[in-house]
Amino acid sequence: MMAMRSKLVAGNWKMHGGMVQNQALLSAIVMGTAALRKADFAVCAPYPYLSQTQTLLRDTPIRWGAQNVSQYDKGAYTGEVSAAMLVDFGCRYVIAGHSERRALYGEDSHTVALKFKAAQAAGLIPILCVGETLDQREAAITEQVVAEQLDAIIESAGINALVQSVLAYEPVWAIGTGKTATPGQAQDVHAFIRDRVAAHNPEVAAGLKILYGGSVKASNAEELFAMPDIDGGLIGGASLVADEFIAICRAANN
Ligand code: 13P
Repeated sequence: MMAMRSKLVAGNWKMHGGMVQNQALLSAIVMGTAALRKADFAVCAPYPYLSQTQTLLRDTPIRWGAQNVSQYDKGAYTGEVSAAMLVDFGCRYVIAGHSERRALYGEDSHTVALKFKAAQAAGLIPILCVGETLDQREAAITEQVVAEQLDAIIESAGINALVQSVLAYEPVWAIGTGKTATPGQAQDVHAFIRDRVAAHNPEVAAGLKILYGGSVKASNAEELFAMPDIDGGLIGGASLVADEFIAICRAANN
């Protein structure tokens, strides 16, 4: 039996944007997605713009979130932002374990698991990113890498914690490269992830949204979203271009 999962398209602006551009982008997205009722949409903005994002999106169906969160509640952690602070700005989502954070800021699976739990404890929905590098794919250890990243969360937070979360499969070699995974390549890994979760709890697996991320564009979104285990997308570059992002939202809503 096919589980009914609604689709989610989330933009990850990364370190892009500014007050003027954000205003134009968000206004366009609000208008461009107003008629789309079936799928869910969100944007993950840089911390300083969460207030602006909240102001512009609060009366719309579009949700918002952050791109990172501290694993700690409060204290002497200069430069860090807690999950409770994100809740103060109306965030629903927060990205955890993006490959850029793992690679450039030394976040290991243990730290990612702590961030995942801190987010959930505050009532946020973590978007947990997993994915292999090109070297790892070529060494045919994609499943091993993704399994390790996923298992770290399951062991630390428990299988039921996945109910209030979203997963994102983001092959590192497809991020910002224009080199999208083929729908078949992505589907294979999505199915692997769902099977691995199902081994713990089939119901949790059936309800789990697994997004694909990595060079998703208006021109390839539809074929990716047509795959049975791809439940939407986590969009980088194309989420900064209103027409592209809206077209991707439309593809998810079909
Ligand atoms: P691109 O869509 O720019 O490849 O980025 C994907 C990504 O990292 C989303 O989190």
